[in-house]
Amino acid sequence: MESGRPKDVGILAIDIYFPPNCVRQETLEAYDGASKGKYTIGLGQDCMAFCTEVEDVISMSLTVVTSLLKKYQIDPKQIGRLEVGSETVIDKSKSIKTWIMQIFEEYGNTDVEGVDSTNACYGGTAALFNCVNWVESSSWDGRFGLVVCTDSAVYAEGPARPTGGAAAIAMLIGPNAPISFESKYRGTHMSHVYDFYKPNLASEYPVVDGKLSQTCYLMALDACYNRYCSKFEKFEGKQFSISDSDYFVFHSPYNKLVQKSFARLYFNDFLRNTSAIEKDAKEKLEPFSNLIGDESYQSRDLEKVSQQVAKTLYDAKVQPSTLLPKQLGNMYTASLYAAFASVLHNKHKTLVGQRIVLFSYGSGLTSTMFSFKLQEGPHPFSLPNIASVLNVSEKLERRHVVPPEKFVETLKLMEHRYGAKDFETSRDTSLLTPGTFYLKKVDSMYRRHYGRKDAEEADHGENGSLVDGH
Ligand code: ACO
Repeated sequence: MESGRPKDVGILAIDIYFPPNCVRQETLEAYDGASKGKYTIGLGQDCMAFCTEVEDVISMSLTVVTSLLKKYQIDPKQIGRLEVGSETVIDKSKSIKTWIMQIFEEYGNTDVEGVDSTNACYGGTAALFNCVNWVESSSWDGRFGLVVCTDSAVYAEGPARPTGGAAAIAMLIGPNAPISFESKYRGTHMSHVYDFYKPNLASEYPVVDGKLSQTCYLMALDACYNRYCSKFEKFEGKQFSISDSDYFVFHSPYNKLVQKSFARLYFNDFLRNTSAIEKDAKEKLEPFSNLIGDESYQSRDLEKVSQQVAKTLYDAKVQPSTLLPKQLGNMYTASLYAAFASVLHNKHKTLVGQRIVLFSYGSGLTSTMFSFKLQEGPHPFSLPNIASVLNVSEKLERRHVVPPEKFVETLKLMEHRYGAKDFETSRDTSLLTPGTFYLKKVDSMYRRHYGRKDAEEADHGENGSLVDGH
């Protein structure tokens, strides 16, 4: 870039919050009367996080933003843009961003641009692009951007229910980032489809055409990958193949679709005749080379063979991203970035100089493939420190596993409460860690009231202090 312009704009810091409650897929499978292995092997999921009546997308975002600012000692006045991605509707007019403004108002900072972006699971990516574009633009005022992805994914009783989840992610955006955008290589595909949508405003549950959503996802992946490759080839003057990226991170509604997605990229590389595909894999894929359009998405044999030949590369390039999505479920807008956080957690010691390709998908549909370049960040934004602040293992370990009966009972209560006014929650914060925000009540004007568990302990205790290099 020319001098004077910000360089290496991207993610400086990242934090994740997820609810302390989860249900094991193995027990849910038995409870639902599904065949043994359907949720765990068939969908590839281990556990599913969910909000109880004291948590929601607003409380989770307040918690994660407060945590990130504190752990990185960021003065709230230093945030100039705040963008939220979410598809969980709390208020059809008032953005979640305005809720988070409370944190900044307390420090006299109301000069913060940005609102919410909504389109299924893609809103977080739109929010991220908005922030990055702002830092790269002539209206940037030198402060940080902040992106929040927050969702609670719940489905009606039936086959989609095990593909829920919940989490909030916060990402600090600025120049000289350890995780910088390769802005020139972006492949986007957007189209009008009714694969998953939320037309019933009296219910939190989506209307979903499961099979169509799977095909749309894979078609969007193909389109984005081919566009990403063309852009790369235009700027680099050489062919792109899966060998050119160290990791691939996918939006993860459930792990099986991620396995199929990487196999699909492998098949694309075969069709494009790239050097990444070995001779015996070529021979195995050859019988499928003439499948066109829908045939290639519906072929079970192609799916099976391509997953089999891509397996070694899947283990190396994709598996490190699967930890949080398998443990927490689909977090909608936060799902892709939780998968990315899993790579940071698993591989932070060896990421410098590497490339990571990401695929973002939101039903309806909107999708983009883009990539990050990883480098040493200035303290405290080094990759090992980011991994340490994420503190993934400890957060996963301290979760509370509940039986499926309790999970279903919670969803019933939430159905009853959805869109309701004039009620108080139990205020049971026994499972929440100090500093976590929680819902206290919704008053007769539908105004929501939140509290914060043991705020003083969280603000002055050791738990939240900045740790480096562990
Ligand atoms: N042991 C092992 N595997 C099993 C078993 C078993 N006992 N039973 C079934 N399976 C396998 C199936 O073969 C299938 O795997 P495959 O696709 O490799 O063949 C998998 O488990 C799922 O079984 P299906 O019968 O296909 O599942 P169903 O149709 O009941 O539901 C679906 C799956 C459609 C994903 C549903 O959960 C859903 O609608 N979810 C929400 C939509 C969604 O997540 N879409 C993805 C993109 S859009 C988005 O992000 C929201």
